[in-house]
Amino acid sequence: MAGPKTRKTIFSGIQPTGVLHLGNLIGAISLWVREQDKHDNIFCVVDLHALTIPEAIEAKRLRASSLDVAALYVACGIDPDKSIIFLQSQVREHAELAWILNCVTPMGWMNRMTQFKSKSEGQESVGVGLYAYPILQAADILLYHTDLVPVGEDQRQHVEITQDIAQRFEGLFGYHFTRPEIMVQKVGARVMGLDDPEAKMSKSSTNPRHAIGLLDEPAVILKKLKSAKTDSRTAVDAEDPGAGVRNLLTIYHAFAGGSWDEALRRFDGQGYGALKTGVAEAVIAGLEPIQRRFHALRSEEGELMAMLGRSAEAAAARAEATMRDVRAAVGIW
Ligand code: TYM
Repeated sequence: MAGPKTRKTIFSGIQPTGVLHLGNLIGAISLWVREQDKHDNIFCVVDLHALTIPEAIEAKRLRASSLDVAALYVACGIDPDKSIIFLQSQVREHAELAWILNCVTPMGWMNRMTQFKSKSEGQESVGVGLYAYPILQAADILLYHTDLVPVGEDQRQHVEITQDIAQRFEGLFGYHFTRPEIMVQKVGARVMGLDDPEAKMSKSSTNPRHAIGLLDEPAVILKKLKSAKTDSRTAVDAEDPGAGVRNLLTIYHAFAGGSWDEALRRFDGQGYGALKTGVAEAVIAGLEPIQRRFHALRSEEGELMAMLGRSAEAAAARAEATMRDVRAAVGIW
């Protein structure tokens, strides 16, 4: 019999839609890397979620994009010997549990989901999958009896509804899922767009100056940061940095290490030009080894696939153990 759990289980994931950006790295992946040695880690490439906006994905490229994201996890420092890194669609139990949870989740709860509202805006037709997206996310998390979900601030509502779904499921069927807690960065839980410091940096912006991609070349990074929106002042005021300057300092802090105070002091009183150059230097130096490792991993696709296959088996064994009990609890085979 398995003994009591000594480590907390962490689960998180990223959609393979478009190129990952600094928000994904700072808000999520860096947190995973920092926490990796302390926990039992499961990191997923959530390709089933990517299907919820079929107009936005390139179906022909989706398989390759999923491998890109998996390779980026490793390139950023997730160690496949310490963490399970797998593709969501390779573990069929995610879709199975999502269906069961669909059946127990009241539509009233779903109608309150803010991401559905923002993501469905401007879409000609919206699939039911986009509406049910948070339930698939709940399935991802609950399947592994996750304790902690390290994510950006924008995912808070999704983790909260996961707790509610778990509680409702237990009320209906008497089966106990571990209640997950959100974990966010103290600095960097919400990285803003370079073109608009009031809007979250996101993969879906059409403005080429909006986000820095993890695979952007040095000259592109410098150009994007040089054009980042600040404010009408000219020098950094550590006491009261405006939203744009605060965002640049957040990015610097993530790459330079050290404390937030150190980041503030490093640039206090300096002109915005010097700030942007300083941030660009830190980002370029930080992304260089990630990009190098990424290209090396992507050039050995067979090895990457083998690692993902082994991880998917490990994830599936755990998912299957949960599903045996869940199926019995709800009365299906
Ligand atoms: P996705 O693919 O939109 O984003 C992946 C991760 O990056 C974080 N993030 C940010 N953090 C800080 N600043 C930003 N500007 C920024 N933009 C994105 C997100 O918060 C996220 O942590 N629904 C999830 C994927 C998912 C998932 C899960 C996450 C599916 N199942 C289970 C955790 C657990 C999403 O859309 O991520």
